[in-house]
Amino acid sequence: MTRTDHLSLVAEAQDRDVVAVGSVLLDGKTSGELVLLVEDRWQGKGIGSQLIDRLQIASEAAGITTITAQVLTTNVRVHRIIARACPQVTFSTPDCGVVEAVISLTGPVGSAHRPAAA
Ligand SMILES: CC(C)(COP(=O)(O)OP(=O)(O)OC[C@H]1O[C@@H](n2cnc3c(N)ncnc32)[C@H](O)[C@@H]1OP(=O)(O)O)[C@@H](O)C(=O)NCCC(=O)NCCS
Repeated sequence: MTRTDHLSLVAEAQDRDVVAVGSVLLDGKTSGELVLLVEDRWQGKGIGSQLIDRLQIASEAAGITTITAQVLTTNVRVHRIIARACPQVTFSTPDCGVVEAVISLTGPVGSAHRPAAA
């Protein structure tokens, strides 16, 4: 975990290849934007959800109070994992095919429900 202008986490496979990265790009002292990328063949295994959970905890520890994410309205998967990992999230009205997710870290954070590992 590094904090300069971002908080970032990577997931590595057993051979040490990086298969996923999640970041909160700081856009102020107490706010940042979430970006996530999981390699195609590693998707659907809970890695994206774990990254969101851990980034919420690390962000809160770093004094961040709000995380935002710009999400295409068509990206149903990321909507679902954000909604599941961040029950406190609110989604804006769609604008030009994009919604903004606003995740407040001032209350309890983390997922209310985590699928069992395969
Ligand atoms: C969006 C993205 C980050 C999700 O990552 P992911 O690792 O596939 O996410 P998860 O595995 O945590 O969750 C995906 C699904 O797998 C399910 N899942 C999680 N753990 C599981 C497990 N152990 N076994 C089976 N299924 C599981 C989740 O319940 C979820 O199901 P749903 O789609 O029906 O809700 C990934 O698809 C991605 O990189 N997309 C391209 C970039 C992008 O859109 N980034 C978002 C912009 S912020």
